[in-house]
Amino acid sequence: MSGFKLVPLSSALGAQVIGLDLKAPISAATALALNEAWNEHVVLLFRGQQLSFEEHIAFSRTFGELDDHASIPSFRHPDHPEVLLVTNYEANGTKLAVGRQWHSDLSTTTRPAKGSMLRCDTLPPVGGDTMFCNMFKAWDGLSPALQSLLDGRRALHDMAISRETQKVRTPEQIADIRRRNPPVWQPIARRHDDTGRRALYVSEMTTVRIEGLHEGESDAILAYLYAHSTVPENVYRHRWQVGDLLLWDNRSAMHIALADYDQNATRIMYRTTLLGEPSGTIAT
Ligand code: SIN
Repeated sequence: MSGFKLVPLSSALGAQVIGLDLKAPISAATALALNEAWNEHVVLLFRGQQLSFEEHIAFSRTFGELDDHASIPSFRHPDHPEVLLVTNYEANGTKLAVGRQWHSDLSTTTRPAKGSMLRCDTLPPVGGDTMFCNMFKAWDGLSPALQSLLDGRRALHDMAISRETQKVRTPEQIADIRRRNPPVWQPIARRHDDTGRRALYVSEMTTVRIEGLHEGESDAILAYLYAHSTVPENVYRHRWQVGDLLLWDNRSAMHIALADYDQNATRIMYRTTLLGEPSGTIAT
């Protein structure tokens, strides 16, 4: 009845959805079946979808409310605030390296993204892949002793600590980023809104420290958690084709955009961001 077929992309996470034309309206039954597939597979791939901005936005709304990207205004599309421009060049020609560390979108806000939908427009001749890791499996794979240390504990997330921000932004710009996005305490083990399943929720790009631990202890445990989450067996590496649309769950996956291409080539992607349930507390 759902009108599509699922083909797994890796043993860790990801499935390709075959048989849907996303330009056409999606029935309620198909939307429900897609949401179930998303909960199970974490990442869904739709190939060969040449969508307009309006169609991309309309299909994204099948899964919920969209962010207007007010927290990152320099990246939003001038005519469609629901669309984020994910490129390696800013409009003024500045080179950028967006998303080059493992992260979960909007974990630095109190309304983190439940999902993100990225559409591939322009690719370099080779490379420009994105990798995803399964944070349900990362949590499940921790020892009960480490789980009990981390469960119920929070970690601080700060948008301004990302390696790229520290490299290319001036101190004034960094202060402005922090003013717009003050650091937020998030639970380290987060229950998925739909399924209740627990996932590990820390991220290399934004997590500063674990609450209640000495700095050295926190650094060592975070380094372990990133290494543990991103072992090859827990990763799906997506090799893009123009027209791909990829939906990932930020509550149960981290992702990283790879610098595996000629940085003088242009890569252009368009992202919509699905707002999730409120989570976290602004640090005072
Ligand atoms: C992102 O981090 O949202 C974008 C990922 C990518 O450009 O591959």
